Amino acid sequence: MKILVTGSTGFIGSHICEQLASEGHQVLALVRKQKKWENLSTSCSCSAKKFKFITPIFDSIDPEGSWAWIDRLPADLDVVVHTAGVVHSHRPSEFYRTNLTATSILVEKLKRKYAFNHKLKFIFLSSLSAAPTIKSMPVGHYGRSKLLAEEFLIKNAPSNWNVEIIRPPIVIGPRDPQLLHIFKIVKKGYYFVVGPNGEMNQYSFICVYDLVKYVINQFTQKSSSSSSSKSSTSPSPIKINIHHPAYPSTITYKEFHLEMAREQGVSSLKKITIPRFLLKPVAYTISALTYICPPLSKVPLTADKSKELLEHTWLVPSDSDSDNDNYSNNNFKWNLNSSVKVTIEDYNQRGLLN
Ligand SMILES: NC(=O)c1ccc[n+]([C@@H]2O[C@H](COP(=O)([O-])OP(=O)(O)OC[C@H]3O[C@@H](n4cnc5c(N)ncnc54)[C@H](OP(=O)(O)O)[C@@H]3O)[C@@H](O)[C@H]2O)c1
Repeated sequence: MKILVTGSTGFIGSHICEQLASEGHQVLALVRKQKKWENLSTSCSCSAKKFKFITPIFDSIDPEGSWAWIDRLPADLDVVVHTAGVVHSHRPSEFYRTNLTATSILVEKLKRKYAFNHKLKFIFLSSLSAAPTIKSMPVGHYGRSKLLAEEFLIKNAPSNWNVEIIRPPIVIGPRDPQLLHIFKIVKKGYYFVVGPNGEMNQYSFICVYDLVKYVINQFTQKSSSSSSSKSSTSPSPIKINIHHPAYPSTITYKEFHLEMAREQGVSSLKKITIPRFLLKPVAYTISALTYICPPLSKVPLTADKSKELLEHTWLVPSDSDSDNDNYSNNNFKWNLNSSVKVTIEDYNQRGLLN
């Protein structure tokens, strides 16, 4: 199959590219930063060999970009896996700019090229954050930007496309830049908890290897309509499925941190509790200060993140149908222990936990 992957130097996108290449697919990888691509494809790991079979397209989905690269895509493209997105930012506008505006432009440009007589499969990496909470809307700008992009796709994708919207929960695995700081803090022997019961907060999770298989299964399975998990969306003439893949058992905040500690040989972990009422003011102050002190933009606690941290649960919906349960129970192999272990191995190999 001929497959375009956006965000191919990212955590999830790089694993998708790697797996597709090892299965013999023809992969076109949209790459924004050439240096990152070179690091992936020239390192001496076995991954590097797989990256040599992938064709990079050095460009971006920047709203102000030329988008001329779309014209050069092959006429017989089978699949687009859209993983490019902004997951961490102190500025709300950045979420909307890339996750919504750039995604909308991508869909419109692809539509112009592939609208007629072309059965394109469009896989969109959304997020569990886009799932409406009890408050009926996503809690933060990140989730809202993803939800609005989903809605754009539902309204605007041509009827001959198949659209699969994937809403992963926390993704754990090698190359993850987002969880690295938590692993580092745990290695020092402590961890932060929000509020008195914060350590009992509950999460769904998935290992990146299981997620990649799930994503690829969406376009390699024999009957795409029968074995995927589906939440029905608003009436639409086109076939759109929303998926909530997750490892069958959930974890608490405490279990996750204890696992990180155990696998790093940390015998005692000191808990530092941040009062719930303090989290937002601290996070908003940091985000505001990034305007006058840009290095602060690397601080993982953002105003947007603080809203997510105040939620007690981040669980995939329990009403996802039994096909999903069957798929998860039979195919998701990576539990918390093995996911954490393989992540630490990767960080250690790259000297990131020293
Ligand atoms: N990680 C998770 O736990 C998780 C959970 C749920 C959903 N997701 C979703 O999964 C997708 C991938 O996440 P990730 O964890 O792999 O994030 P990531 O490592 O930050 O990767 C994001 C990718 O998007 C690319 N990108 C961002 N803006 C771009 C632009 N304007 N043009 C072209 N490329 C652009 C980045 O390029 P550079 O490499 O050049 O920076 C990077 O390759 C995201 O859409 C995210 O919302 C992730």
